[in-house]
Amino acid sequence: MAARTVITWGDPRLKLNSADVGEWTPELETLVADLFDTAIAEEGLGVAAPQVGVNLNLAVIDLSCGQDPAQKIVLINPEIVREEGSQSSSEGCLSIPGIHEVLERPQHVWVKSRRPDGTWHEVEGEDLLARALCHEIDHLRGRLFVEYFGPVKRQVIQRKYQKQKKA
Ligand code: NI
Repeated sequence: MAARTVITWGDPRLKLNSADVGEWTPELETLVADLFDTAIAEEGLGVAAPQVGVNLNLAVIDLSCGQDPAQKIVLINPEIVREEGSQSSSEGCLSIPGIHEVLERPQHVWVKSRRPDGTWHEVEGEDLLARALCHEIDHLRGRLFVEYFGPVKRQVIQRKYQKQKKA
């Protein structure tokens, strides 16, 4: 198990649609462990496989940041099946370090996700967990949270990001 390098905004691999996970393998087991390690190393609440250059529909969330194993969530071929309400709060992404912007998200979501053994279960999340679920599933569709903003705001964010990267 080891943290992997997170690729950042501008890398074309972040824009790809990822492929569904097929048969579960030891390599995938390692990838999941590495994703959890990566989230902890980067102090993130979650990370998606495309962010480490693997374009598979796989992501992990751990709102406890390694403090509580019960909070570890593995998403395999996840899909939002229902959403309710809305929330407005600050959001960030390990692939866009230093940038945090307020973004509206559903307040409550229900996600269908596969287990390694091929069976399915539902992951339900409210508030921060709902935000994290939406954010990570967006990564699997090639979407970064800054892409919700219009071109003008996105340009402002991009300039801020470039300036921070140089500093
Ligand atoms: Ni992200």
